[in-house]
Amino acid sequence: MAEEELKKGNQFEGKEEYIKDVFTEIADYYDEMNDIMSMGMVQGWHRFMMKKAGNISGKRCLDVGTGTGEIAFHVARTAGAGSTVVGVDITPKMLELAERKEKEMDLPVKIDWRVGDALKLEFEDGSFDLVTSGYMLRNVTDILQAVSEMHRVLAPGGKVVVAELSKPKNAVVRFFYNIYMKRVKRYGRKYDKGKSIDGRQSAYQWLTTSIEGFPYGEDMVKVFRKAGFEDARYYVKSFGAVNIYVGTK
Ligand SMILES: C[S@@+](CC[C@H](N)C(=O)[O-])C[C@H]1O[C@@H](n2cnc3c(N)ncnc32)[C@H](O)[C@@H]1O
Repeated sequence: MAEEELKKGNQFEGKEEYIKDVFTEIADYYDEMNDIMSMGMVQGWHRFMMKKAGNISGKRCLDVGTGTGEIAFHVARTAGAGSTVVGVDITPKMLELAERKEKEMDLPVKIDWRVGDALKLEFEDGSFDLVTSGYMLRNVTDILQAVSEMHRVLAPGGKVVVAELSKPKNAVVRFFYNIYMKRVKRYGRKYDKGKSIDGRQSAYQWLTTSIEGFPYGEDMVKVFRKAGFEDARYYVKSFGAVNIYVGTK
């Protein structure tokens, strides 16, 4: 993949506004659909992310593109009392839901929810020991910039752990995966009613097709290396439907 493509991935004019509108539209049923789409596997992916984060007890943690907060909740439980957990997202409605859910939980630490842009984080260099992010990179307008910001706000020795959708490489698995994605799209239509957002595809059409033209696996590892994570590597989950990228500053 050419370097320019690696940097930009799946892009189009007006993407930032479109993405905000997509997530505002689906916020209320996002969690339910996520569970259905991942066939309940999403919690296992997040537990794996925590394993790869290492010992984060009492550490400073940031979850970028935190959405309804699922990964931030895992981080808060793992890091425990005395830690700092911040969740940043560009869509206020997703954060409102995260906050509402947090109130029903008994977490060891209060999460600091902030509206903000992954491409321009408001934090000083070296502010965190761990940066996590789940399924956000497909949605940003500049992947390299987002990963570079994660690198910038990490302290030396800090870790990045990022989950993102990918495509199975094995031809047989890919065959079943394509059938499954078609079903997900059909199911998503029941929720989003196929309603066009900003004159573009419906929310769940986007969520299932946004993987097209988007770097994953070794191509994405190159982005992490370019952003400064020299030891970047990835782990394949669920037969290649998801990749978890890990790196150290
Ligand atoms: C697919 S959701 C993932 C939410 C959550 N991480 C999870 O695991 O369920 C992607 C999230 O990224 C957010 N997002 C997209 N672009 C962003 C940006 N530039 N800065 C911050 N958040 C962004 C969206 O608002 C949305 O909440």
